[in-house]
Amino acid sequence: MKILVIGAGGREHAIVWKLKQSPRVDRIFCAPGNAGIAMLAECIEIDGNDLEKLARFALDEKIDLTVVGPEVPLTLGIVDFFTEKGLRIFGPSRKSAALEGSKVFSKDLMKKYHIPSAAYEVFDDRDQAVSFIKKTGAPLVVKADGLAAGKGVILAQTIEQAVAAVDLIMADKAFGEAGEKVVVEEFLVGEEASFLAFTDGKTVLSLPSSQDHKAIFDGDQGPNTGGMGAYSPAPVLTESLHQKAMDTVMYPIVKALAAEGCDYKGILYAGLMIDGDQLKVLEFNCRLGDPEAQPLLMRLKTDLVDVMEAVIDGRLAEVKLEIDPRPTVCVVMAAGGYPGSYEKGQVISGLAAAAQIDDVVVFHAGTANRDGEIVTNGGRVLGVTAIGDNLPATIASAYRAAGVISWDKCYFRKDIGQKAIRRMEGGK
Ligand code: AMP
Ligand code: GLY
Repeated sequence: MKILVIGAGGREHAIVWKLKQSPRVDRIFCAPGNAGIAMLAECIEIDGNDLEKLARFALDEKIDLTVVGPEVPLTLGIVDFFTEKGLRIFGPSRKSAALEGSKVFSKDLMKKYHIPSAAYEVFDDRDQAVSFIKKTGAPLVVKADGLAAGKGVILAQTIEQAVAAVDLIMADKAFGEAGEKVVVEEFLVGEEASFLAFTDGKTVLSLPSSQDHKAIFDGDQGPNTGGMGAYSPAPVLTESLHQKAMDTVMYPIVKALAAEGCDYKGILYAGLMIDGDQLKVLEFNCRLGDPEAQPLLMRLKTDLVDVMEAVIDGRLAEVKLEIDPRPTVCVVMAAGGYPGSYEKGQVISGLAAAAQIDDVVVFHAGTANRDGEIVTNGGRVLGVTAIGDNLPATIASAYRAAGVISWDKCYFRKDIGQKAIRRMEGGK
């Protein structure tokens, strides 16, 4: 088979790495890819959002299956566009991808179908949003309706911060059209977990639990990023909470989408807030998480091509996911300054030494090949991912590998996985 993967991050490197293990796969292309992906696949210089060029390439190359990594092409309707041209593609349709692409759509759907989530109001008028905020009081969460590259969610501790967030989104139009409406929502407390599943619109096959680390600094301090590390499983999601997530979130949302005329096929990712034995949905995403994909795909033993084809063909009920029982940990190495401004083009050293460490895979995110040298080319640069017999040993190997890699001003959190360790030790 010939496969085309769309995207350029650590998630896409993990997807390519996993697909490459399938005996059914002969060639993998990636648009546009990165320096790590280029070691496993043929990278092509097509922007991941250029649907016309991507479809032309897939037709010319007779691609058998296209796999979409990021959300933007999905919300632009790449799946509908490819399907109309007779191309096989894994992911939800444009209408279904609105579950991630529009917070208003997703919140309204959850409310209509009684799926647990934070209380909220929607506003398309700045003054009405402000008077609601003044009446309600802080803390509150203000969210731009549309996609804003992870920056459209503002946690406001005071009324002033919440009003400033509304102004940033609606008056300054910091996120353009994505901010024509805002959601003002109850501030939830608890511990977050990522719950991902494959679905063909009928069957839901869950992947193991995982947990991201969104804040830039240790102890979850500082501004939010795309994700600074992840591990799987996440003990916060106990067996009974797992069942609850399936019964009160995953099946109901798939049924709700179907009832609204959206046949959801692909990855369904629920960001959950867990407080004791209660869980609520923070958001839905319509694709694999980054960095959750790295630890999750490292644990998946089943052939990913078989699973993706079963999703497309509506045969997921026939599939069983085989999962490695061992835990996995991904430590994201970032450019100093990220998520603010940072430099690109720094030479990365130690990659060959890290590659020698058993049970570690260094997934590339923002990297490029400059005349044979691997250099930094983004904020999140690498996802150093380990698998091991137990969590402490796995954390230790991920950090051992991260420790041999360096470049000028490289930065990574030192506490990835510590919440799980504390929970396993019986603390909190
Ligand atoms: P979202 O993109 O909606 O998941 O928001 C990004 C991050 O903001 C989440 O992962 C949480 O850390 C935080 N967040 C979002 N909504 C809430 C909420 N209602 N209460 C507390 N934190 C939230
Ligand atoms: N890791 C969070 C996300 O992919 O949205």
